[in-house]
Formats: sequence, structure tokens, C-alpha cells
Amino acid sequence: MNRTFVSQLQADLDDLVAKGTYKRLNHLASPQAARVQMEGRGEVLILSSNNYLGLCDQPEVVEAGIAGLRKYGAGTGSVRFICGTFTVHRELEAALARFVGTEAAMSYVSAWNANEGLTASIVQEGDFVVSDALNHASIIDSVRLAKAITKCTTAVYAHGDLDDLVAKLKANAGARRRLIWTDGVFSMEGAVAKLPQILQIARDHDAIVIMDDSHATGVLGATGRGTAEHFGVVGEVDVITSTLGKALGGAAGGFVAGPAALCDTLTQRSRPQLFSNALPPTVAASALAAVEYIEAHPERVQTLRENADYFRGAIREAGFNPLPGETPIVPIIIGETADAIRMSELLLEEGIFVTGFGFPVVPHGTARLRCQISAAHTRDDLDYAVRAIRKVGLAAGVIR
Ligand SMILES: Cc1ncc(COP(=O)(O)O)c(C=O)c1O
Repeated sequence: MNRTFVSQLQADLDDLVAKGTYKRLNHLASPQAARVQMEGRGEVLILSSNNYLGLCDQPEVVEAGIAGLRKYGAGTGSVRFICGTFTVHRELEAALARFVGTEAAMSYVSAWNANEGLTASIVQEGDFVVSDALNHASIIDSVRLAKAITKCTTAVYAHGDLDDLVAKLKANAGARRRLIWTDGVFSMEGAVAKLPQILQIARDHDAIVIMDDSHATGVLGATGRGTAEHFGVVGEVDVITSTLGKALGGAAGGFVAGPAALCDTLTQRSRPQLFSNALPPTVAASALAAVEYIEAHPERVQTLRENADYFRGAIREAGFNPLPGETPIVPIIIGETADAIRMSELLLEEGIFVTGFGFPVVPHGTARLRCQISAAHTRDDLDYAVRAIRKVGLAAGVIR
């Protein structure tokens, strides 16, 4: 055992504690729902979950997972192309493609994996990849990895700045292939990408649009089909990636959706497909049931929207100034990281679980409480949360 290594790590951790930026894990002893049992605290209202549609404990989703486990056993025991592909993977992928409006889809054990493996699988030296500055960390790593592996050229455009995007595309007009990476919904802001304009820019510059819709699948659009449905452009985005770990049942897993030739290319080339086991069949079965549930119950998406609008209005009336938006992500900017974490701790004492995010997840000075609303919340839940946030905000001097 290398004692120096351990003591160095411990010193770094102690430093985080001293700065008030150490992340303490809370243990839940019940299903992810509007209210959960938290170890040592009892019942707590969750305002920090991606369980947007409340499907984590939906009986149909849970039962499908149990049936999947019984039918297929614990897992795939292998990577996909060797002997790890089950019929439920094909059924899930067909449902996902149908849901987001693409020809095909390919599942992964996480959206992180799906994103990470994608860029390097479809570019080579001489290609150009440009990515929004606020894209998710998995996209950032995917682009970095693609650059290291393939020697493609990469750039970052200022968040939502389409002039900057165009300038960067023009500067790389000679590239063989141009990719634009954007989140559909930016997770720390709750902002929606300017998708119609990005699609037009892509057409004008012969580029390909890849959109990570993890916070929009099941959330945006009248029937939850995501950012493309929100803007009435279903079928026009070249490639959509998303997660199964948020609105679609909340277990784990992700996918890439697009042309069949792309999904086949990923089977051949994507390193997580080639070197890592596929989604466990029980998880695939639950996710499939979640997609079918949303298709049969679009009113859940409507409830989510109404809850988010209600909360946004109520938190404004309580004296806060949340970032504006039309998604269920409602960030309340606090400022310093330690203050956001402290507020989140005080809220936990009031029975509200909402995480404070600070640097490096968001820029210095913009630490925030990121409230996330679910269709599973009742109006009483939301009113209770607003009262508690106001009480803690007053005590912390964030509002007057
Ligand atoms: C935009 C975005 N992409 C990808 C991911 C990763 O999702 P997963 O948990 O499926 O790896 C997340 C999760 O936080 C996300 O917010």
C-alpha cells in the first residue's frame, strides 16, 4: 500500500471540506419519487432529480424490468458483437427511434458512453468538430478524445452565439466533414438550444448536427419527443443522443439515434460497443416500458409543463430571480459555491433535497440551487418547497 498516495488524496479532500465545497452523498432508502426516505432524515421532498415524468417507480416500468430479468437473466455476459445482443435491445432501439423520429437507434450503458464513443467513430483527420461552450462534460470529453485519436480539428463556440458558430464553420470550410455538437437543453441553465437556426446554419455550411437531448427527451414537445418536437422539426436533426437515466424510467443507459447507416457504423466502430457489455436486459425492458408509457400517456408531459410553470411563477413571487426558461430546470443563482452548498444543507434540514452546484460545474460566481420539477410533484409539494426555500433564503440573506 502506497501511504503517500493515500495521504495526498486525503489532504485534497480535507481542502475541499475546508473550502465548503466537499460533496456529501445522501443515501435514499426508497424509490426515487417526489418524496423519498433519506437515511438519517426520514421523508424528504426531492427537488433535484431527473425523474421528470415520475416513471422511476411507475408500476408498469418496474414490472417490465422484473419480467426482463426473469426472461433474460442478470446480464449480457459479453459485448454486443460477440454474444451480448438480446431481442429486447432490438425492441428498445426500435421504440427509441420511433419516439425521437429517426430511422434507427443504438443503445449504450449510459448517455456518457453513447456521447463519448460517438465523435471519434465518425470523424477522421481533416474533419472539423465545433461544440457549444456549455455542452455537457460527456460531449467535451468526446470531442477531446476524437481529437486525440483522429487528429481532427476542433473548436468551441460561445454559448448560443450563432455568429461565432458561423465564423468557426467558415474558418473550416475546407474540412472534409463538419460536425456541430449541441445540447438540446443545457442542464445547468435550463436553456433550450436555438435548434431551428442551428439546423439552417448546418444546411448553409454543409454540416451535420448532433444534439444531446438528455434533458429534453420525455420533457419537451407536446408528446415529450424532445427539442425537435418543441420546435416542430422532428426528423430534421441528423443525430440525437439521449439518456434513459432521466425521464425514460431513470434507471441507466443512453442511446444514439439517427440514420441506420450511422447505427451500423457504431456497431462496427464505437469503442464502448466493441469493448464493453451492453445494457442489462432488465434495464432495457424497463426503458422500453417507459417509452411505451409516455406514448400512451402524453398528459404526463403536460402535467410536467404545468408544474414547472407553476413553480417558476411561485419562486419569483417568493422574491427569487430564477433563470428564465421553459424547461423543468429552474436554477436559482446564489453566487459563491460555499453559499449554494450551505443553502442546500439548510434546505435539507427543512426536508427539501435540492443540490447546490458550484465551480467547476458552473463558472465562478454563478453557483446555484438547481431546482428540477417533476410531473410526480403535487401542488402541495411545490408550495411546501417554495415556502422552505423562502425561509432559508431569508435566513441566508439571499432575499429580503
Ligand atoms: C446533457 C447530458 N448528457 C449526458 C448525460 C449523461 O447521462 P448518463 O447518466 O446516461 O450517462 C447527462 C447526465 O447528467 C446530461 O445531463
